[in-house]
Amino acid sequence: MCRTIVVTSGKGGVGKTTICANLGIILASKNKNVLLVDFDFGLNNLDVVMGVENHITYDIFDVIDGNCTIKQALVQDIIYPKLFMLPSSHLIENNNIDVEILKNMINELKYMFDYILIDCPAGIDNNFKRAISCADEAIIVTTPHISAIRDADKVLSLLLKYKLNNVCLILNKVRGDLIVKEKMLSVKDVEDALKLKVVGVIPEEDFVNFSLLSGGGVDSKSDCYKSFSLISEYYLLGKRDIFDPTVKYKGVLGKLKINLRKFV
Ligand SMILES: Nc1ncnc2c1ncn2[C@@H]1O[C@H](COP(=O)(O)OP(=O)(O)OP(=O)(O)O)[C@@H](O)[C@H]1O
Ligand SMILES: [Mg+2]
Repeated sequence: MCRTIVVTSGKGGVGKTTICANLGIILASKNKNVLLVDFDFGLNNLDVVMGVENHITYDIFDVIDGNCTIKQALVQDIIYPKLFMLPSSHLIENNNIDVEILKNMINELKYMFDYILIDCPAGIDNNFKRAISCADEAIIVTTPHISAIRDADKVLSLLLKYKLNNVCLILNKVRGDLIVKEKMLSVKDVEDALKLKVVGVIPEEDFVNFSLLSGGGVDSKSDCYKSFSLISEYYLLGKRDIFDPTVKYKGVLGKLKINLRKFV
């Protein structure tokens, strides 16, 4: 049965699109049929992040306007044949799309895929509500910063009205060295503040964006990859092993690494 998961946050720039793309890539690399849907109408960038912007013929609005069938609008990934995306359009400014039309569209696609990941826009306006309405599960993304956590809490309170099956938390842009030095909130601090199940902790790494743009997702030797891989195991097998970003900054060697980070 297809699982439809919306990736949302409230606050912008915390990593929703990055997480959608990388989780999609890893699930597809593990032989699952995956669809990424860009619900960030007007400010969409999932196509750019996935490197398929020049392969788009139709978008979600063409399907709504009857210019193409839903299958014609799907764009297959260049590297992973089991990964598809349904693009949005940059030309849209104000849209009044009926949520029922979007729900029907997603329902029509469910029989083709194991996972549908919906990339939600920042904010809590109508586009956010439409994205949530089309999903059965949610991932709330936050960084360990007070402003992002406050927005995540607001989103969580709104999500409760939608009776989703499973709402989980992913912490992104985490700095293990700062947690060890008690200059960043720990995973437990954030978990306690939001009272939500953490299913992933992703470290802040310089080349996340670059690795995606060069195709194929983050470098398979990176800590980000390990983290995304553990998150995929939660969605594939229900295992909840969470990446610990502090491990490499503990002990004598860890202290050296913290000092080295000051100079890079
Ligand atoms: N773990 C990470 N380490 C370093 N940079 C990251 C990480 N995750 C995301 N980024 C960077 O942060 C920026 C914002 O990420 P992204 O676009 O995924 O956020 P978003 O929540 O989708 O933003 P928006 O709300 O605007 O849609 C990008 O430049 C991305 O490369
Ligand atoms: Mg985004």
